[in-house]
Amino acid sequence: MADTYYVTTPIYYVNDAPHIGHAYTTIAADVLARYWRSAGRDVRFLTGTDEHGIKIVKAASEKGMTPRELADSVVVHFQKLWDDLEITHDDFIRTSEPRHERRVQEIVRRLVDADQIYLGAYAGWYDEGQEEFVTESTARDNDYASAISGKPLTRYEEPSYFFRLSRWIEPLIKHIEATPGFIRPDARRNEVLSKLKMGVEDLSISRLREKLGNWGVPMPNDETHSVYVWIDALANYYSACGLPRIDDEHDAAAARYWPADVHVIGKDILWFHAVYWPCMLMALDIELPRCVFAHGWWTSEGRKMSKSLGNFISREVIGEICDEYGVDVFRYYLLRTVTFGLDGDFSRDDLRERYNGELANGLGNLLSRTVNMIGRYCDGAVPAPDADVDAVADVRRAAQALTSGADDAMGSCQFHIYLAHLQGLVAATNRFIDATKPFALAKDDTQRSRLATILYTCAEAVRIALLYLAPFMPATARRGLAQLGLDVSEEPLSVASAWGRLPAGAQTDKGAALFPRKT
Ligand code: MSP
Repeated sequence: MADTYYVTTPIYYVNDAPHIGHAYTTIAADVLARYWRSAGRDVRFLTGTDEHGIKIVKAASEKGMTPRELADSVVVHFQKLWDDLEITHDDFIRTSEPRHERRVQEIVRRLVDADQIYLGAYAGWYDEGQEEFVTESTARDNDYASAISGKPLTRYEEPSYFFRLSRWIEPLIKHIEATPGFIRPDARRNEVLSKLKMGVEDLSISRLREKLGNWGVPMPNDETHSVYVWIDALANYYSACGLPRIDDEHDAAAARYWPADVHVIGKDILWFHAVYWPCMLMALDIELPRCVFAHGWWTSEGRKMSKSLGNFISREVIGEICDEYGVDVFRYYLLRTVTFGLDGDFSRDDLRERYNGELANGLGNLLSRTVNMIGRYCDGAVPAPDADVDAVADVRRAAQALTSGADDAMGSCQFHIYLAHLQGLVAATNRFIDATKPFALAKDDTQRSRLATILYTCAEAVRIALLYLAPFMPATARRGLAQLGLDVSEEPLSVASAWGRLPAGAQTDKGAALFPRKT
C-alpha cells in the first residue's frame, strides 16, 4: 500500500468572505497535495470552515442573522473560490457538522476522564477578533487593544473549565528540541521555544453558553458551557479522519492518514498549533502531527491590506487577476515571489514583470521555439537523438537538479527552491538553444543527426519542466504537454520524469502561446 500523506489548511472563519491570505494557504496546501499525489503517495487534503465562537456570533447579529445562517451564506464563497482556484481537497469540514461536534465532545470527555480538565474562573482580557486570551502585561503593552486588529480587548470574569496545559510544557519543549522539523521555519521554532521557556499557564477552554447565544459545542460534563472555539477548531484535523471512534458512519474512515504530515498555517496562529494542539494530543496520548509550517503575511502594493485603503485583495480582486492572467499564473506567482515562511508584498507591476520575464520569455518561449523547430525541420515529429552533443550534459544536469531536489524541497515546503530549480532547467535549455543554434544547423544536411539530438533534448527538457510545473499550474502543464503530443502521465513522477522517457516520433502540435506577453 502506498504511504500516506496528510496535509491540512486552517479552517477559516465564516464572519467574512475569503481573501488572498486564505487563498495563499490553500494554494500552498494544494500544491503539496498535487505533488505528492503525482509522486504516487496516498494523499489526504483537508480544508474547511471554523463556525463557532464569539466572533461569528457577533458578526451574525450585526447582519441580523443567526450564526448558522451566516455560516451557510459565507461557506459557499469559500467553496466557490476553491473551485475557481482548482483546489483539490479531499474533504471540507465545517465545525458545525455533527460528525465534528460529537467528536469534540468525545475528546473533551476523554480529557475530563484523564483529569486534564478542572473548573476554575477566568478573569482577564480577551481578543475577540483572534479568539484569544491575552495576559495582563500584553494587554497593558498594547493599551488594552488587539495587537492584530487594534480593536479594544474585552474583559471577562466568569467560571470556566481549564485544561492543565502547564503540565505539558516540559514534554513539549523536549519534543520540539528533539524534532527539528516539527515547527518550520526555524526562526518560528526558536520563537516558540523561547516563549515556552518563559512559562505558560493553564488554558481556559470553555465559555458560558448563554454568552455565546447558545452557539458552539456544549461541554460534555456541563452543558452550561461551550468548548472554547480554538479547542473545537483544532480538533477538526483529527475529527475529519473519523477519529476518535464514536460509533457513527464516519468512524475512522480516514484514520490511516493520522498523524498529519503538515498543518500549513499563517504565522499569527502558530501558538495555537504549536502549543495548544500538541499539548492536547499528548494529554490524549495521540501521536503528534509531523510538522506545523507557519507562512508569512501578504501586504498589498507596499501597505497592510485594508478595505478603506482600496488595496484589499478580496475574492473579487482575485477573480479579476485570474481573468487577466489565468488561475495558474496567480497560483504560481504567490508561491514563486516569496520565500515560503517570510512576509511578502503583492504588486501588480511585479506580477506583470515576472509573468513576462519568467513565464512568457522563459518557459513559454522555450516551448514555442521547440515545437516550432520540430514542426519546421522534422514535420512535427519528435526526432530520435542519435548524435553526441556535448552541451546536452548542461541541460541534463539542470534536469537532474530539479528531479533529485524536488522531494526534499516539497518535504520542507520550500516552494521557492523547487521553482528556482525548475526555472534553472528552463534557462539552461534556452541557453542550450542559443549555444547550439539548431536554426543554423537546419540549413546543412550533414548536420541532421546533431539537429535531431538538439531538438530531442529541448523537447525532453520542456516535458520534464512541465511535469514538475503541474502541481502549481495544472491546466498550463496539460496544455504544454499536449503541444508535445503527450498526456499528463499516470506514472509516478520519478518514473515519468526519467530522462529519455519522451518517445521519439511523438507528434507535436503547435498550439496557442502558453503565456501571451502582457504590456
Ligand atoms: N479559524 C482560525 C483558524 C483555525 S485552524 C484550526 C483562523 N481563521 S482565519 O480565517 O482568520 O485565518 C486563516 C488564515 O488566513 C490564517 O492562517 C492567517 O494567517 C491567514 N491570513 C489572514 N490574512 C493574511 C494575510 N494578509 N496574508 C497571509 N495570510 C493571512 O485564524
